[in-house]
Amino acid sequence: MQDFKGRTAFITGGASGMGLGMAHAFGKAGMNIMLADITPHRLNEALAGLTAAGIVADAICLDVADRTAMANAAARTIERFGEVHVVIANAGVGIMGRVRDASYEDWDWSNGVNFGGVVNAIQEFLPLLRRQGRGHFVANASMAGLTPVAHGGLYSVQKAAVVAMSEALYTEVAGEGIGVSVICPGMVRTNIHETTALRPGNLPQSARPAAPPLKLPVDPTLFMDPMEVGDRVLRGVQSKDLYILTHNEFAPAIAERFEPILSAMADSPMAGPPPGFEGPPPGGAPSSAPDGPPRGAGGVGGAAPPPGFSVYGRVLSARQAAGA
Ligand SMILES: NC(=O)c1ccc[n+]([C@@H]2O[C@H](COP(=O)([O-])OP(=O)(O)OC[C@H]3O[C@@H](n4cnc5c(N)ncnc54)[C@H](O)[C@@H]3O)[C@@H](O)[C@H]2O)c1
Repeated sequence: MQDFKGRTAFITGGASGMGLGMAHAFGKAGMNIMLADITPHRLNEALAGLTAAGIVADAICLDVADRTAMANAAARTIERFGEVHVVIANAGVGIMGRVRDASYEDWDWSNGVNFGGVVNAIQEFLPLLRRQGRGHFVANASMAGLTPVAHGGLYSVQKAAVVAMSEALYTEVAGEGIGVSVICPGMVRTNIHETTALRPGNLPQSARPAAPPLKLPVDPTLFMDPMEVGDRVLRGVQSKDLYILTHNEFAPAIAERFEPILSAMADSPMAGPPPGFEGPPPGGAPSSAPDGPPRGAGGVGGAAPPPGFSVYGRVLSARQAAGA
C-alpha cells in the first residue's frame, strides 16, 4: 500500500506502546485513526495526543477477546470513516509462565487476547477488506513467536500461532490485492509489564505459584522506542513485507532455533507425495502475491516457491528442481 492519505487504520491495543506508536506513524502519513483498547483512561490520553498532533482520530473501548465487541467496532469504524484500509491486530498481554504450570484460566485469558484477539479482527475486518478489494492486515506477534522464550511457554505458543496464521493468510488473500504483515519485535519500551492487571475476574490468576516477575538481563534503556517501531511498521506495509522484524540482534537466536530443525531433515527427499495428495490445483498456484513471494521466504533448497503454494507444494517444487 503506497497511498495513505485520507484512508483509515483500525488499531487494537492502540492506547499504549507499539499500538500508539503505529497510530502516530500512520496518522502522520495522512490516515484517519480508529483506536481500540480495553483501558479507558489510556484511550482518552492517546486520543488527545493524536488530536494535538493534528491527526484525525476516534476511539472505541473494547476487549479484543469479545467477538460481539469486535463486530461492533468494525461497524463503528465504517460508520465513522466510510472504509477501513489498514487493520492492525496489536493488542496483547505479557503472560509469563511455563506450559507445565499453567491453569485452564491462564490459557483461556491469554489465548483469548493474544490469539483470539487476532482471530476476531480477521473474522470481522477481513470481509470488509475483501469486499473493497484492497487493504492491509497486520498482526503483532513477537520474536517469541520465532524463538520461544524460556519461562514464557504460553506467550510463545500464542505468538507462534499468530505468525503461522499470518503466513497462511498472506497466501490466501494475496491475489485479491490485500497485503498481510506480521510484526515480530524484540524488546520494546512499553507498558506490557502492567497487563496482568487487565485479567478479567472470571479468569483468576492460577492457584499455583505465579511465575516470578520477569527479570530481563538487559538494561531497559536499550529497549526500542515504540514510536520507532511504528515508523518501521509503516515502511513494512508500504513495501508489502510479510515479515516486519525490528531487532536484528536476534538473528543468531533464529539461526540457533532453525539449524537443528534443518539438520534433523533426512538426507534425501521423500520418495513421492503422501497417499491422497493431488498436487497443486490445475493452472498452478491459486493466486499471486502482491509483489511476488514474501521477502525472506525462499523455498526449500533455495528454490523460490510459487506464491500461494502450500508448504507441501514448496517441497514438491524443490524435488522437481532437484530432478527427483
Ligand atoms: N513490549 C515488548 O517488548 C513486546 C515485544 C514483542 C511483542 N510485543 C507485542 O506487542 C503488542 C503490543 O504490546 P506493547 O508492548 O505495546 O504493550 P502495551 O501494554 O504498552 O500495549 C498493549 C495495549 O493492549 C491493550 N490491551 C490488552 N488487553 C486487551 C484486550 N483484551 N482488549 C483490548 N486491548 C487490550 C492494553 O490496554 C494496552 O493499551 C502485544 O501483542 C505484545 O505481545 C511486545
